[in-house]
Amino acid sequence: MTSGESALARSGADMICSVAKHMARGKFISFEGLDGCGKSTQLEKLAGALRRQGIDVVTTREPGGTELGERIRAVLLSSRTAGLDPHAEMALMFASRAQLIADVVLPALEAGKWVVCDRFTDSTEAYQGGGRQLGGEGVLRLHEVLCGGVWPDLTILMDSEVSSSVSRARRRNKSAEQDENRFEKESGAFFTRVHETFLEIARREPQRVVLIDARPPIEVVHEEIVRVVKERFLLMI
Ligand SMILES: Nc1ncnc2c1ncn2[C@@H]1O[C@H](COP(=O)(O)OP(=O)(O)OP(=O)(O)O)[C@@H](O)[C@H]1O
Ligand SMILES: [Mg+2]
Repeated sequence: MTSGESALARSGADMICSVAKHMARGKFISFEGLDGCGKSTQLEKLAGALRRQGIDVVTTREPGGTELGERIRAVLLSSRTAGLDPHAEMALMFASRAQLIADVVLPALEAGKWVVCDRFTDSTEAYQGGGRQLGGEGVLRLHEVLCGGVWPDLTILMDSEVSSSVSRARRRNKSAEQDENRFEKESGAFFTRVHETFLEIARREPQRVVLIDARPPIEVVHEEIVRVVKERFLLMI
């Protein structure tokens, strides 16, 4: 074999290897939307549908999903956390995310598992960028630096009315054991900015972000999400 032929054979083998690696990588799906819009409900239902098809699914959430992340979550969401600077809030969101990517997301995807995550960087752009008015640009720059270009293959953005979602979340939080009430104390204007920022992200990234009407009954929303996931990943579910 000449050196040219062996280089060609090597590059062919590398290509097959990288295709095999690519094929084996799992899919990364995030759920986004306002508090109380039904993300966690739909995430569990989608994970169940995927598992019934034999897909190995890891479900996780933000902030949280790791031991460190859950401790950060408790600080971020507790109504007892007072005087948290908006930039400190944004930094903590990214600290939790960086740990989640390293410990959970990348290892699972590399092992061929699917990762379904309750909120990701779009929430930081919507809540800290839009809601707290820190701007989206800084969020995207931090993502680039701290998250190494890791983005979901598909983001389900659950669209709902501001007032009904927030009142659902308040009702749910009242009956929950943990105190995760800090954001629910924000104003209607805050949540309107969050909502508008989510919609801007969907307009900006139509390939990744699919808008789902979250207002119909749970089963109807689930069927629509399954339809989108099936279509996107050519599955038989
Ligand atoms: N389509 C729906 N119609 C009516 N009620 C719903 C629907 N989806 C979810 N709910 C109810 O609304 C409440 C909030 O749902 P869920 O916890 O899934 O929302 P969430 O988006 O995860 O909220 P959070 O952002 O606060 O975690 C729950 O009590 C849930 O049962
Ligand atoms: Mg939830």
